[in-house]
Amino acid sequence: MGVPVKGKGRQEEDVRVIGIESSCDETAVAVFDTERGLLSHRLHSQIALHQAYGGVVPELASRDHIKRLLPLVREALSAAQSSRETVDGVAYTAGPGLIGALLVGAGFARSLAYAWGKPAIGIHHLEGHLLAPLLEPEAPEFPFLALLVSGGHTQLVDVAGVGEYRILGQTLDDAAGEAFDKTAKMLGLPYPGGAALAQLAESGRPGRFNFPRPMLDRTGLDFSFSGLKTAALVALRGRVLDEEIRADVARGFQEAVVDTLAEKARRALVGGGYRRLVVAGGVGANMRLRERLGAIARNAEAKVYFPRAEFCTDNGAMIALAGALRLVAGERAGLAVDARANWELGATQ
Ligand code: KG4
Ligand code: ZN
Repeated sequence: MGVPVKGKGRQEEDVRVIGIESSCDETAVAVFDTERGLLSHRLHSQIALHQAYGGVVPELASRDHIKRLLPLVREALSAAQSSRETVDGVAYTAGPGLIGALLVGAGFARSLAYAWGKPAIGIHHLEGHLLAPLLEPEAPEFPFLALLVSGGHTQLVDVAGVGEYRILGQTLDDAAGEAFDKTAKMLGLPYPGGAALAQLAESGRPGRFNFPRPMLDRTGLDFSFSGLKTAALVALRGRVLDEEIRADVARGFQEAVVDTLAEKARRALVGGGYRRLVVAGGVGANMRLRERLGAIARNAEAKVYFPRAEFCTDNGAMIALAGALRLVAGERAGLAVDARANWELGATQ
């Protein structure tokens, strides 16, 4: 089952789920149908709201989610030509994330489900990210190796099927996205800095700054990015931050992160004999990373799968999809989501 098999006609097990994501600074709602695929998705980004503060202000995030959710749900339902009668379940991000922001989404989704007499399905945010490539026309089959690179997490995960996840390695300190954002801030780029840093790096000269490739001299699949951020800080110290220096540092930093992620992914891919590599999470939108992982997968005779850029970062479609797959698998509530996923629920992003 699962990801739609086009043209098979509606089967009894097919379901339609509305998904709600509100874990951080995006309010997002989507409707996914296991026969027909993604029917609609809507997103409101809070970037403008938080920009003046240089980062997400949790209280403002929660308040904005409250304001945006109902109109977005109405829009997504109408665009999907769906209603209470045709929706089989309400999925929402149960965690991890900002607690107030999560509470808004969970309270809304569970109330809606209760009022409609439909099941509410709590989804682990990272499960949403790693299933996001299944939204694409060419979806990976299970099993696969996933490189999950978001603002809060950096993990290599063995994915045997829906709900069957084993963490092979993860960051011991900062996530890759967090390192991008913190370094971007040092370079005077606005929040969220990852994409802006990547753009600045385009005009930077390779090799001018050779930052360390953390943890590559060690066995195992763990990462560490906090030293890299410090190395960037040291490189910038005492210099006039003109355009050229900023671009060169951005280039050196991006190369170091991409090299590290790519080399660990290569080791996991080859070591585990995987045929498929899935890349997900916001940093998965990085073009240099995509190129490098593409080359690594080719050399390892594996195929690489990326969600389209808008489904790399937070979105409702991945939550609706994960909810639909879990509903089909017979789940009616999402309370045990942390135990299943073997991830620590409640950790902030
Ligand atoms: O997955 P996501 O939307 O949020 C979390 O669940 O954390 O990821 C957001 C992260 C941010 O750190 C952002 O700077 C980073 O993804 N990001 C990028 C790019 N686009 C987004 N990092 C590097 N290059 C990009 N093009
Ligand atoms: Zn995310």
